[in-house]
Amino acid sequence: MKYYITTPLYYVNDIPHIGHAYTTIAGDAMARYKRLCGYDVLFTTGTDEHGQKIELEAQKRRIHPKELTSTMQERFRVLWNKLSISHDDFIRTSEERHKVASQAFFEKLYKNGDIYYGVYDGPYCIHCESYAREDICPSCGRETSLLSSPTYYFNLSKYKDRLLSFFKDSPDFIMPSFRLQEMVNMVESKEFSDLSITRETTKWGIPVPIPSSSAIIYVWFEALTNYLTCVGWPDDKDKFEKYWPCDLHLVGKDILRFHSITWPCMLFACGIAPPKRVFAHGWWNIKGEKMSKSKGNVVSPEILCDDVGTDCLRYFLLRDLTFGLDGDFSYDNLINRLNSDLVNDLGNLVSRTLVMVNKYLDGRVPPKGKEDRLSSLAQECFQKMDDDFENLRFNAWLEKVWSFINECNRYIDQEKPWTISDKERLYSVLYSLLEALRYIAGFILPIMPNTSKEILKQLGADKEFSLSSFKWGLLLEKTKISLGEHLFTRKSI
Ligand code: MSP
Repeated sequence: MKYYITTPLYYVNDIPHIGHAYTTIAGDAMARYKRLCGYDVLFTTGTDEHGQKIELEAQKRRIHPKELTSTMQERFRVLWNKLSISHDDFIRTSEERHKVASQAFFEKLYKNGDIYYGVYDGPYCIHCESYAREDICPSCGRETSLLSSPTYYFNLSKYKDRLLSFFKDSPDFIMPSFRLQEMVNMVESKEFSDLSITRETTKWGIPVPIPSSSAIIYVWFEALTNYLTCVGWPDDKDKFEKYWPCDLHLVGKDILRFHSITWPCMLFACGIAPPKRVFAHGWWNIKGEKMSKSKGNVVSPEILCDDVGTDCLRYFLLRDLTFGLDGDFSYDNLINRLNSDLVNDLGNLVSRTLVMVNKYLDGRVPPKGKEDRLSSLAQECFQKMDDDFENLRFNAWLEKVWSFINECNRYIDQEKPWTISDKERLYSVLYSLLEALRYIAGFILPIMPNTSKEILKQLGADKEFSLSSFKWGLLLEKTKISLGEHLFTRKSI
């Protein structure tokens, strides 16, 4: 069982912002969930380092693009480390392995007759590195520049019908499904035409592998092939066959068209199966506007992470917004979630339970008692886990986990262990609570890996958690629990 999941490659013209962190955290949650299920996961991320946007930024800073890209990619690596991202590969498009794959891909299409020579005359958006057809870029709203240049074209329009039938035959390919019609409309529109895939004016990129050409490969055409580079294409056949087709490309809605239209057509032309699924998430906005450097409303994931902690930020980003829709970022919401969901609900449940086990049982797990309400609720919740993760419904999943957490807190309030004189009943109640905590640690593991680990450590149950760990009664009698520090610290706004 394998699972190949990717994030987009981030442009390195600037430091990472919360939008980048969002895609990567979601990818990490999926990767961790699949590992928990026993899959052999390949989770890739990295940086998109070529093209005019990077070249211009380097010029502005009076440095070589190599220096800019090398400094910036490091910022992404450091951030991923800070956010506990468990990627298996970090690809930079300036690496040799990617040059080899992109050139081989280009050559193959050229030889097949899917790449031809022509002239491009029209508006171009430097920011999005894409053709705009209008003075204003439809994606970012910036002014476009005119470009007139000889170029090689990819025969995209040839694959129109095949792509439309592929959409029909694979209803789960584009997610959320409400985005499908938007993509169908684009493919069916008059504007759907062949794609210029080389640039004469930009120097910073991968050379077109045709001896008579001094151009570079268009940055999108080349960056998309990273998904093949990461599985060893074209040389490492074993790796390629093991992991391809990709199970999930995670992207923001702004780049869905590249992944669900351009990319499958490129693969059709190369004789490679298309990916199984592309999921487009929404944007984090500030007062209804997309975050951007020019608007000066960018939120720094580093600062937030230092402020509230890695797991809190991960929790907040996946809990506060329905994955797939847009939403407004609010610092107040972040702090409210920290204080109420994490400190009050989860943190208190853990410390109340362990304090009682210390007090009444000298810090040892009691014998397994009668199964009760908590065991059936835990099992019920677990039954829904796969469906929520499979459909990337992170917030719906977290809501279910939190209603279980709240049930556990209610259980303590109702059972009042401190009033129970019958030892057997007291032990049974405390055992249920400890097992519930172990389940909760498993439930939150993909999203809050550090908290999950800490809870399991405190329970003395820190061997690797897998699907088979979701079985009631695995916590062993007499195991020593270790009450630690509070899991979260309250903050004021
Ligand atoms: N380099 C291309 C991707 C090439 S993939 C072969 C690119 N890079 S990007 O750095 O501009 O954006 C990367 C991702 O960040 C996109 O999925 C985008 O949607 C996401 N975000 C950028 N700003 C965002 C928000 N404000 N909110 C949420 N995500 C957004 O595009």
